[in-house]
Amino acid sequence: MTNGQPLLENWTPEQAARMNNAIFVAQHRIQDLDLFGDEQLIELLDRHPREALGINTMGTDPVCHQEWQEGRAGNLNAEQLYEAAQTGRIWLNMRRVMDHHAEYARLVNSLYEELEANCPGLSTYNRSANLLISSPEAIVYYHLDCPVNMLWHLRGTKRVWAYPLESGIVSDETIEGVLCGEKSEELEFRSEWDDLAVSYDLNPGEMVTWPQHTPHRVVNTGGLNVSLSTEHMTSRAARRNNVFLANRHFRQILPGDYRSTQLTGWQPAAKEFALRVMRRLPILAPKPPQGYKYPVTFEVDLDAQNCVRSLVDNDTREPVLTS
Ligand SMILES: [Fe+2]
Repeated sequence: MTNGQPLLENWTPEQAARMNNAIFVAQHRIQDLDLFGDEQLIELLDRHPREALGINTMGTDPVCHQEWQEGRAGNLNAEQLYEAAQTGRIWLNMRRVMDHHAEYARLVNSLYEELEANCPGLSTYNRSANLLISSPEAIVYYHLDCPVNMLWHLRGTKRVWAYPLESGIVSDETIEGVLCGEKSEELEFRSEWDDLAVSYDLNPGEMVTWPQHTPHRVVNTGGLNVSLSTEHMTSRAARRNNVFLANRHFRQILPGDYRSTQLTGWQPAAKEFALRVMRRLPILAPKPPQGYKYPVTFEVDLDAQNCVRSLVDNDTREPVLTS
């Protein structure tokens, strides 16, 4: 609760019970707080450390995930970067806002306290949040995330597609690969999978979430988009990650075909325990996850098309010399 007002709106016990098991949309009131106007966002962008600011651009075809690019701000100030997001094809990700801005730490913790009060049995930890500011036509390619994530939408409109795990589109090996950092979180995508997706047009004041590891993609459909993306863990989420990681690691070092993704009972508990022990034993430890790091291939430039000035030659992919 902030200023005495609840942040969640119209939640029912039935909704709360579905939250972890289904692709789920609910209402909130975060957009009413005095934090997300142009002026406040520019000021936040100005205060946010540049090393914790992700700057990206992308293509227009949801299949071509290799067109996701990492950029740099160059000499642009916060106001100019914000203008680039308004007019270009730019994705700004203010990472870990709870670590850098006390008002966001308070807001996200208040949100989670209300969530836990509304969802009996929910107990979250490792909470974090990223504030996303993205251009009116920006897209995010098909991917899956390791923690549980929730997208609290604040400004503009976007369409979200989520691909239910039970559709079988994403294999257990793919989830294992993402968890151990071998596969990028952006994955191969085929447009016919949309027939199996749940899609939703997200408006300010709505939140969407889905069961952990559910693949999803996003297309902005109108106006500058502002969303708060929160992530958290629960003991069940940690168990699920550990069971997938244990299956993969055990198949590599032990005889037997470890593939069960069951989460309850003594066997998954034993798997999780064994993996935790192995992590402490250098000879048996799995390699720590290596996240993929994109090379920086463009600079934000208000005079360039889409506010993207390439730093590589589009044909040869060689660096372009800049004066
Ligand atoms: Fe995501």
